[in-house]
Amino acid sequence: MPKVLIATVKPFAKAAVDQIKSVFDNAGYEYVFLEKYAGEEDLINAVQDVDAMIIRSDKVTPAVIDAAKNLKIVVRAGAGYDNVNLEAATAKGVTVMNTPGQNSNAVAELVMGMMVFQYRNHFNGTSGHELKGKTIGIHAYGNVGKNVARIAKGFGMEVAAFDPFVPKEAIEADGVKVFDKVEDMYASCDFVSLHIPANQHTIKSINHKLLSIMKDNAVLVNTARKEVIDEDDLIKIFEEKEGFQYISDIAPDNKSEIAEKFEGRFFFTPKKMGAQTAEANINAGKAAANQIIAFIEKGDATFKVN
Ligand code: 3PG
Repeated sequence: MPKVLIATVKPFAKAAVDQIKSVFDNAGYEYVFLEKYAGEEDLINAVQDVDAMIIRSDKVTPAVIDAAKNLKIVVRAGAGYDNVNLEAATAKGVTVMNTPGQNSNAVAELVMGMMVFQYRNHFNGTSGHELKGKTIGIHAYGNVGKNVARIAKGFGMEVAAFDPFVPKEAIEADGVKVFDKVEDMYASCDFVSLHIPANQHTIKSINHKLLSIMKDNAVLVNTARKEVIDEDDLIKIFEEKEGFQYISDIAPDNKSEIAEKFEGRFFFTPKKMGAQTAEANINAGKAAANQIIAFIEKGDATFKVN
């Protein structure tokens, strides 16, 4: 009987846990949950005898892979897999998958929620602004970006996108204006929302050169990864553009400096909240469980990323 470890420092909602259990019960699989654990050591101990893993942002390091003698597959219940060491997994013949699209509406709703919160001055009683008629530039038009476009249009916003990897016609079919040059989008939008993955090409790519082109009162929205921002440059932009605002689902490492100097111009969630809805947990968790079963039973490698 295959054994699955569900390792989530940030646990799934109870409804999702119940549904994941039911998927594995029906398949006759053994499973164990490791939630809110302290660190790598705990994960190393828990992976010793498992055939498969479901994780969220949990770090799957070479040491974890090495300790997992029977491991065949890791499924990241979510989109970004920058927390998995793909080289180590590939070297040991371990398949890595994600569950694209399963939590994207949750992230997109958080984008809009944070935008309203920021534009209404954190609900502090003063007059803020409306989103209607403002422009939003979506940097990378994947599953989350597409959902942001759909909801932003409901708010009456003008929606644009930049994504060299998605055919222009597919974006335009959603009624979204396409920019061929990323700089042009940054220059003309009231909001820019980041949906790029964190990898060697994107880390620190949101830098002074790009941010300095933004409008003076522009709002940068980050529900992607903090690593894509050049945080030293971010401080410079805060200083140079008095109206610049930054709202992020993940606090930057220099958050105390920002908090000290730029009151009211930022918002950071205390913990990564984008995918923290029962619906997203259920969708991504169940998809991950089903992908593991399909892989072990039939060799189905859909959504393999390594
Ligand atoms: C993702 O990449 O799917 C999101 O960032 C959500 O991450 P989480 O599962 O750790 O909340």
